[in-house]
Amino acid sequence: MSQPNTVSAHSADETINGFSIYKRLAGYALEYRLFLLFAFIGLLINAATQPLFAAYLKPLLDGTFMDKDPEIIRWAPFALLFIFLLRGISGFISGYFLSLVGRNVVTKIRSQLFDRFLNLPLSYYDKNNSGQLITLLIFQVEQLAEAATKGLKVLIQDIATIIGLLAWMMYLSWELTVVVLLTGPVIALIISYVSKRFRRFSRQIQDSVGDVTQISSEAIAAPQEIRIFDGAADEKKRFEVVNEKNRRSFMKRTVTELLSMPIVHFIVAIALSIIIYISTNDGLIERFTPGTFMSFMSAMMLLLDPVKRLTKVNSTLQSGIAAGESIFSLLDEEKEKDIGTKSLDVVKGKIAFKQVKFRYDTDGKDIINAINFTVEPGQKIALVGQSGSGKTTLVNMLPRFYNYYSGDILLDDIAITDLKLSNLRQHFAYVGQDITLFNGSVKNNIAYGKMRYATDDKIRQAAIAAHALDFIEALPNGFDTLVGENGTLLSGGQKQRIAIARAILADAPILILDEATSALDTQSEKAIQSALDVLLQGRTTFMIAHRLSTIESADKILVMEQGAIIEMGTHQELLAKGTAYAGLHQMQLANDIK
Ligand SMILES: Nc1ncnc2c1ncn2[C@@H]1O[C@H](COP(=O)(O)OP(=O)(O)O)[C@@H](O)[C@H]1O
Ligand SMILES: [Mg+2]
Repeated sequence: MSQPNTVSAHSADETINGFSIYKRLAGYALEYRLFLLFAFIGLLINAATQPLFAAYLKPLLDGTFMDKDPEIIRWAPFALLFIFLLRGISGFISGYFLSLVGRNVVTKIRSQLFDRFLNLPLSYYDKNNSGQLITLLIFQVEQLAEAATKGLKVLIQDIATIIGLLAWMMYLSWELTVVVLLTGPVIALIISYVSKRFRRFSRQIQDSVGDVTQISSEAIAAPQEIRIFDGAADEKKRFEVVNEKNRRSFMKRTVTELLSMPIVHFIVAIALSIIIYISTNDGLIERFTPGTFMSFMSAMMLLLDPVKRLTKVNSTLQSGIAAGESIFSLLDEEKEKDIGTKSLDVVKGKIAFKQVKFRYDTDGKDIINAINFTVEPGQKIALVGQSGSGKTTLVNMLPRFYNYYSGDILLDDIAITDLKLSNLRQHFAYVGQDITLFNGSVKNNIAYGKMRYATDDKIRQAAIAAHALDFIEALPNGFDTLVGENGTLLSGGQKQRIAIARAILADAPILILDEATSALDTQSEKAIQSALDVLLQGRTTFMIAHRLSTIESADKILVMEQGAIIEMGTHQELLAKGTAYAGLHQMQLANDIK
């Protein structure tokens, strides 16, 4: 049985164009149709108040100041109040409902992204830096939402305003309106050029924000290394490069934005001058009352703002597209492949590797090279070998953190690829090389995930077995003490003991302990080991040990070198053989005596 390496299975760089991104985004927004409808109505009413105001000026000027019409003089002040009241109310309604839809979409996309984070194949995390991923969730989702709501507002409201104003202008004088319209294409050309630049700089800004996040989070996470090895200057330099890149991209975007405005304004001014020239020099002046002229000029002035916003909105829309590209391509990333269909309720814990090969990169070298061995239920298997020999990689294939590409791994004589992932994994407990405690109490860290309903007594038993009870009880609030990033800080050894307690509590038939006691002193390690010996009876256990003294009782010791097993046997057998294992043993003895 073979299957493709997950690493090659996805490629995130499919180009998705702006239109399809908006179509997809619209899909999210359309879930809130009713709110959108309210917003839409608000926007249109708001848009209508502008031509209404321009139209109002004509009778106001002609009727009151020129003709002194008592009828108009009576309603003129109230009409003005009405127009502005309408404007205010519609502005509030459209703003509120647009924001409501926008925030709902942000929340939904964020939770979908987070869900994707939880389900990606592990190789994805190897290849993508966490800064970029977090930026995506925090910053780019925001940009996408802004593009959507602000874009919608400007596009609907301003386009409607422009249409309304132009219609009114047409009504007053089509000749002058044509002059105004002729400047349109010139403005459109500038917009399209500007938008291309915007898109480019927006993407650069996003990338550099990701780099800034990454480098600063490293600096925050490793202050000791930075100080001891005098890395501050290098870190500073590294940071300055991305910080400067960020500044430059922003400035380039700002310049584009700032330049586009005056150019558009100037073109409008040219149109305006032409209009003044024509209307004062041609026969038009006879047909025009002062009210008509003022109304036309006002409508034209009122055009300026929406046109201005239309040119600006492009920057928002373009950053939205850039953000949408990254967001949707992550959402389209394949989840961890789960092609298995079988489930095992209870497993005995027999494991067999048959000619298993694995590599992290499809074009890289084999990290696991034709491995063969069998483990009987309940046996203790120890993996030893120099770091980089492939021990972690080998055990990580068991719960299918990574998929092998040729050979077979069998659990109770069933290929692990035939089992559903969740079913396969429920038979394992795991203590990894790097321990991360979750923000929360000690208790919740031990009774994590599927163990969340464990009784206090069980949790206590697990802590005792992991030799963690003493230090836990010495903490300010015992089992309820908060640990993790925002809580009490624990030592490496204490964290390991909590992780071991978690694995013990899981009560799984197969255990993986990857250097699980590496941060402990020899005394504690020995004590935990003897407690584990009792606990592990009847459970298949894979132990990666850095101290050989802890694995002497193993049923089988596998000595690894460059992804292959070079020796296999019990402690006694391997010592008697006098080769690789005996050599390692000799070396450690010498060290221990020193
Ligand atoms: N996530 C990964 N992506 C690519 N290569 C890796 C990854 N993890 C480990 N390797 C490489 O695989 C080899 C075996 O590593 P590992 O299994 O961690 O060894 P060990 O646990 O014996 O120290 C090393 O050469 C290492 O560089
Ligand atoms: Mg390792």
